[in-house]
Amino acid sequence: MKRQSIVAANWKMNGDLALVEEMANGLNSLELKDHQTVLINTPAPYLTALSSALTHDQIKVGAQNLNENEKGAFTGEISALMLNDLAVQYVVLGHSERRSIYGETSELVAKKVAHALNNGLVPVLCIGESLEEREGGQTEASLEAQLAPVIAEIGIEKFVDVVVAYEPVWAIGTGKTASAAMAQETHEWIRSYLAAQNADVAQTVPLLYGGSVNAATAQELFAQPDIDGGLVGGASLKVEEFKNICLAV
Ligand code: 13P
Repeated sequence: MKRQSIVAANWKMNGDLALVEEMANGLNSLELKDHQTVLINTPAPYLTALSSALTHDQIKVGAQNLNENEKGAFTGEISALMLNDLAVQYVVLGHSERRSIYGETSELVAKKVAHALNNGLVPVLCIGESLEEREGGQTEASLEAQLAPVIAEIGIEKFVDVVVAYEPVWAIGTGKTASAAMAQETHEWIRSYLAAQNADVAQTVPLLYGGSVNAATAQELFAQPDIDGGLVGGASLKVEEFKNICLAV
């Protein structure tokens, strides 16, 4: 089975309207494989401008967070219904920066994933271990602690509509990419963990690798059997570099 392959940009709190234009112009003529999707997760204020500037039907836009409630007195938050209004189809949830800086627990992330799915959005669920956990042999325990609450909340069957991004925290923004072999080993473990709940579902879930992905490392990473693309931070802010990462699929 050919799984969907996704190269996703996470701009984090970066970019401006000029980059929106430049990125859309750079990507609109990109020749992508049939099973390939490119996803650009911009800060919320730029979602509409980017959607309008994109003409390529395999390139989608996504948000970087949402609130788990439908609406109400939650100053500064963004709802799923608002993203629906903008025809946004994807949302990054549980990024390690949201977990570590804003204290999002795996239980809260699970609620957000459920809320996204209930509103027709595809969650890009981020999980990853810290350096301490990796060095202490706790990688799998850490990933399990982040995945299990989501499975408990939505049920494994709903994972057919979920994208999982594995981002080792020690590789984010540090220039230290996990080796392709190390990333594959962890992706294989994630898929087998999902498969223990439902083997058919596990085969459909795109598993993206994130953490210092660039044009030089993308090809080898994406060639691994359980790596279905990437979630790209810093390198997604440079048009030529990001294009080359998209072409590495
Ligand atoms: P970098 O590619 O800058 O390491 O960021 C990875 C990331 O956090 C994407 O979500």
